[in-house]
Amino acid sequence: MAAPVVFLNGFYVGLEEARVSVLDRGFCYGDGLFETMRSYKGTIFRLGLHFDRLWRSAGLLNLPLPLTRMELASIVETTLKFNSCPEAYVRITLTRGESAPGLLVDDNASPTLVVFVKPFDPVPDEWRRDGVTVALFPSSACRTGGLAAQVKSCNYLSQIVLRNEARKRGSAEALLLDDEGHVTEGTTSNIFLVENGVLKTPPANQYVLPGITRQVVMEIARAQDLPCFEENLTLDDLRRADEVFLTNTGIEILPVSRIDGVAVGDGKPGYWTRRLHQEFLKNVEDRG
Ligand SMILES: Cc1ncc(COP(=O)(O)O)c(C=O)c1O
Repeated sequence: MAAPVVFLNGFYVGLEEARVSVLDRGFCYGDGLFETMRSYKGTIFRLGLHFDRLWRSAGLLNLPLPLTRMELASIVETTLKFNSCPEAYVRITLTRGESAPGLLVDDNASPTLVVFVKPFDPVPDEWRRDGVTVALFPSSACRTGGLAAQVKSCNYLSQIVLRNEARKRGSAEALLLDDEGHVTEGTTSNIFLVENGVLKTPPANQYVLPGITRQVVMEIARAQDLPCFEENLTLDDLRRADEVFLTNTGIEILPVSRIDGVAVGDGKPGYWTRRLHQEFLKNVEDRG
């Protein structure tokens, strides 16, 4: 990869020079949004869906984007080219910008917009081959709930704490449950189960981010005649499942082999998890 180049508020600058004010509301209050996208061979996978989520989230926060979709697409493309890194994560960060401290919004503040490219870093082979362990965190979803979970906000404090707790327990991901015991999502992933040839995932709500990979997986499942439902799921449902997997932009589709130490199904990645991942990769190729 060439020396990292970042887009910051209208300029392409070296990573070392890219600096944001200490008064930036993203820094002070987490008052902003981000999108993490994946570039395969230099093309962003499902850019349109990421933009849909970004624009919808910006609308919910009353944080207007200072440019059109076409302009942002061109900035993303140029930043990718500058970095000569075709296999990458591309992160867009949008904050409400610099303004005097205080919660009240200054409508004249100009938003801060950053596009940053990071080389793709695949998950360990054994995670994909054998599946990962997830750790359960009952009553944790409410910590990330409300508006925050419907948008990819710049405040990931609860997710950071929970992911690190999960790591201490030897798990790759933390699984958040709401107060009623419903399964919601991971700290940065959505969750699916397969039982008796039916795919299920919790509905997107105040605790569940509408993940782009989640949406693509549902599309692929339907195209493969695998019935797919969004419904409330409990821990018992996960325990009964034949297969469980996580989805996100970076991990794509990752099998879960154990939940809090208890094996899922026969403890090995299942047929549908592997098949959906193969179809996902074909989908990436077809759109490349
Ligand atoms: C809280 C949360 N849920 C789900 C996801 C998965 O979303 P996507 O498939 O768009 O990467 C993410 C992604 O980082 C996330 O942060």
